[in-house]
Amino acid sequence: MSAGAAPDGVTSTLDLDSTLGDARVVVLAGGGGVGKTTTAAGIGLGLARRGRRVCVLTIDPARRLADALGLQGVADEPVQVPLEPSAPDGDTVGELWVVMLDAKSTWDGLIRQYADSPEAAEKVLQNRVYKEFSGAVAGTQEYTAVEKLHELLASGRWDVVLLDTPPTRNALDFLDAPQRLHAFLDSRALQLLLKPASGGLGLLGRGAGVFTGLLKRALGVDLLSDLMEFFGVLGGMSQGFGQRARAVQALMAEPRTVFLLVAAPHPESLEEAAAFRATLSGRDIHYAGLVVNRLTRAVLHEDEAAVRGALEDALDDADLAGRAAGLHERVRGQARHDDALIAAHLAAPGHEPVLLVPQLAEDVHDVPGLDRLTEHLFPAAG
Ligand SMILES: Nc1ncnc2c1ncn2[C@@H]1O[C@H](COP(=O)(O)OP(=O)(O)OP(=O)(O)O)[C@@H](O)[C@H]1O
Ligand SMILES: [Mg+2]
Repeated sequence: MSAGAAPDGVTSTLDLDSTLGDARVVVLAGGGGVGKTTTAAGIGLGLARRGRRVCVLTIDPARRLADALGLQGVADEPVQVPLEPSAPDGDTVGELWVVMLDAKSTWDGLIRQYADSPEAAEKVLQNRVYKEFSGAVAGTQEYTAVEKLHELLASGRWDVVLLDTPPTRNALDFLDAPQRLHAFLDSRALQLLLKPASGGLGLLGRGAGVFTGLLKRALGVDLLSDLMEFFGVLGGMSQGFGQRARAVQALMAEPRTVFLLVAAPHPESLEEAAAFRATLSGRDIHYAGLVVNRLTRAVLHEDEAAVRGALEDALDDADLAGRAAGLHERVRGQARHDDALIAAHLAAPGHEPVLLVPQLAEDVHDVPGLDRLTEHLFPAAG
């Protein structure tokens, strides 16, 4: 039985070897905790084992995996994962690099890049409002993830970059992040606030003196002028952000940019994946299919009495054999349940290629664990 096949005919139809053969960007999206980070790292390792130079851009990996990959204390810098050939006769080994997204450093880099001068950049970097804004994780991760992706690709050091996305409820949150930021910076409202046509101080400035004075006295800080400075400088970078937003949009639409969804074998997770896919289908992007991760797999055709008999023979203890057989039956029940779920999902309109990945015996927290996962992600290579 191949790794992705189940006896009742629910089989994998997504072949990553051919789907990703030519990919330059692989985006993995999906709900929280379904295994996006693990799958991204596993696919990255599989591609590196096929001789490609791979970088996995990850967001908040589980601690043990981060440590095993050498990410401990390193944010925003690519780290190379040492790879031994997986077999003694030696598969070709490319390169596997991982980088953990640090939203604040990515923002700092952007400010340095788009500011008019190093002095202007420094002014923003020291700005109180900027520090709060760039350090806040929610919302800015979506933007910085695509930003960082762009930067990694532009360096030319890798053949393929995998993007492990933050667990967003809506895939568009992060696809549209650069465009949204640019639209905001470019918005009439912000312009009006900061740059009135007739050389005044802007709505924020006009009559704000009393308010600012009060705030300053109450808080001991000149918050409003920090705010104005912050938005003033960001607004001045609007053109740069606009260009970047268009570049990112073009990158997402490239034929060599491939989207994969990851889901768990639970009705809510599969429904969520179907909703994601529906949103993606209206866009100019290349959706390759769904990875259903952590499936319970079992040999379903074996007859229960035979299993019990074999266990009794092997264990020489009827009571223990009875309990083991009960456990075995429970696993088979779960496997039947998982298979029925996938079959129902596949029968629904909008049929898509799926890759079935089993629940492994242990958490995946190091390179050997990722290698075991890779056997299921690329089963044809066997
Ligand atoms: N096929 C699998 N078999 C066994 N354990 C797995 C498998 N896939 C993932 N895991 C484990 O599940 C946990 C969650 O996986 P992971 O961190 O990749 O999820 P995620 O979707 O990235 O989560 P988040 O949404 O929080 O970023 C990890 O401990 C990982 O080792
Ligand atoms: Mg994750």
